[in-house]
Amino acid sequence: MPKPKIVVTRRWPEEVETKLVEHFDAEFNHDDAPLSEAELRDAFARADAVMPTVTDAINAAVLGAEPLRARLIGNFGVGFNHVDLEAARARGLVVTNTPEVLTDATADLAMALLLAVARRVGEGERHVRDGRWTGWRPTHMMGTQVSGKTLGLIGLGRIGRAVAQRAHHGFGMRVLFFDPFPPPANVVESLGAQPCATLEDVLRESDFVSLHCPATAENRHLMNAERLACMRSGAFLVNTARGDVVDESALVEALASGRIAGAGLDVFEHEPRVSAGLLEAENVVLLPHLGSATVETRVAMGLRVLDNALAFFEGREPRDRVA
Ligand code: 8YV
Repeated sequence: MPKPKIVVTRRWPEEVETKLVEHFDAEFNHDDAPLSEAELRDAFARADAVMPTVTDAINAAVLGAEPLRARLIGNFGVGFNHVDLEAARARGLVVTNTPEVLTDATADLAMALLLAVARRVGEGERHVRDGRWTGWRPTHMMGTQVSGKTLGLIGLGRIGRAVAQRAHHGFGMRVLFFDPFPPPANVVESLGAQPCATLEDVLRESDFVSLHCPATAENRHLMNAERLACMRSGAFLVNTARGDVVDESALVEALASGRIAGAGLDVFEHEPRVSAGLLEAENVVLLPHLGSATVETRVAMGLRVLDNALAFFEGREPRDRVA
């Protein structure tokens, strides 16, 4: 039996690429440049499986490949908003993702952003590097205390829960949340989290708001001008979910007008493009989509894709099937 042919759209950790070669006739993207729409469509026509990332728009045009050889989309990442699931289903493709293995890394980064923006870490670092630091003084770069404050979580799925755990048990924060599909009451209780009836209730009560909801069509611009206006004037917004959950121009406005105190952002509406208004602002911390970027996690994500693909081609149900 020949090995199934797979196209891996971006470079993965070497350890995982080596393992892929053992099981598949694997084609890698050696220069790591994002594939064009035509190249992606061609991959679906030539390979039995395509392994994309968040940088690949797997839309109806790509999935319209004729003839279509692919039967599996093994997404490298938990979020799959870049994959048109309807079109994939219509063409008989199975889609898998990589949940669980990136929960801790992403929750750690959400806390890093929260702490960084509250304690002016980016600003302070620029200050020292630019040679502007003239010495210690009692009123220099005072930030906002994190310990003991109120954190509002929009979404209490795997990552939201891991953030709640860190914030409540590590930093003594009061944790509020809004989630239309909350976890069981005993889980909520063990996290020290309190449910709110509406999203706006969370926004009005929180010193920090952290987004942990999926990038569905309904959640596009969930944080719009009106909702940003519900936040406390001294509050901070943290986003490690997806850029389009926030109306980026409304956020620029809210920051510039002092409506909210600051933001810690790992994701943007038009990655890798970032609004000029964010780049110029001192009260924001900006990261290049690093949520899951630890060696341990990226290897685990790759191995999870491999696991799903092996199951699929051996005729078993992949554990992380989303379509
Ligand atoms: C990934 C992510 O780096 O898994 C996700 O949904 O946002 C990140 O952890 C990226 O999506 C890889 O495709």
